[in-house]
Amino acid sequence: MNDSPITPPPVVLSTWSHGLPANRAGLAVLRGSGPHRSALDAVEAGCNVVELDCPDMTVGLGSRPDRDGRVTLDAAVMQGDGRAGCVAFVQGVAHPISLARLVMERTPHVLLVGEGAEQFARECGINVAAPKLSPAAEQQWRAWLAERKYAPKINIENHDTISMLALDAQGSMAAGSTTSGLAYKMHGRVGDSPIIGAGIFVDAPIGGAICTGLGETVLRTLGALLAVEAMRAGATPQEACEHAIERIIAKNPNPENYQVGMLTLDFSGHTGAYAVQKGFNYALQEELLEARSRFH
Ligand code: GLY
Repeated sequence: MNDSPITPPPVVLSTWSHGLPANRAGLAVLRGSGPHRSALDAVEAGCNVVELDCPDMTVGLGSRPDRDGRVTLDAAVMQGDGRAGCVAFVQGVAHPISLARLVMERTPHVLLVGEGAEQFARECGINVAAPKLSPAAEQQWRAWLAERKYAPKINIENHDTISMLALDAQGSMAAGSTTSGLAYKMHGRVGDSPIIGAGIFVDAPIGGAICTGLGETVLRTLGALLAVEAMRAGATPQEACEHAIERIIAKNPNPENYQVGMLTLDFSGHTGAYAVQKGFNYALQEELLEARSRFH
């Protein structure tokens, strides 16, 4: 018995309040009449919106940098048929989610990182800009340098990713995630978002899961895979989120110091949402909702 109402396809589900403009763009794709209206097109279009305009400075080139003052970006896409593409530690690319899609569609690989990913971007005709911080990011980074204290604030500096699930009218599901990761991370650090099974996972005909939050905790547990496998074993999308979050808490000490939010979707349009801490909001279609959480 499922414990969330069915949302009839097309369905879009995204992390945080920046999921609202992402979902609007995704729904416009899925409800449109143009040639590009698959779940994957919707995820790419939705993530592209936030990559260009993320007031939280956690996605795209306007993000807060790492501790060396570089904005390094991670992204991934996955389809229900198992195809996936990811990029990590990429600099100067405005739309890493689109580059991740090109890795899936034009290479025999799943993950390209750093200079190799940037070289591939140029080969695809994508501009790779010289490193440059936005004025706001530069100001915040310089203020952070005064103390150099690495202690991300829950739901603020951990508020770090647009992850998105879409189910189209043809019954195809796709997931995507794009992020600059944690503010002031070590140069070279990669989080869960571009790692298949960690930040995102989709498997037809079971469902999909996406994560946001402190990537190290999700990497240690392959959080998205945990949730999809729970659904395969018979859990509802909500139960699957709760199961995966409990495992993340069990394997990562001091949960009061981190946030992880998880969203799930099955092929019938049932959804799940759960988080470690209060404060994880998400967008289902054009509505902003607050997830239940383990701690309040
Ligand atoms: N969840 C995104 C990151 O930790 O990089």
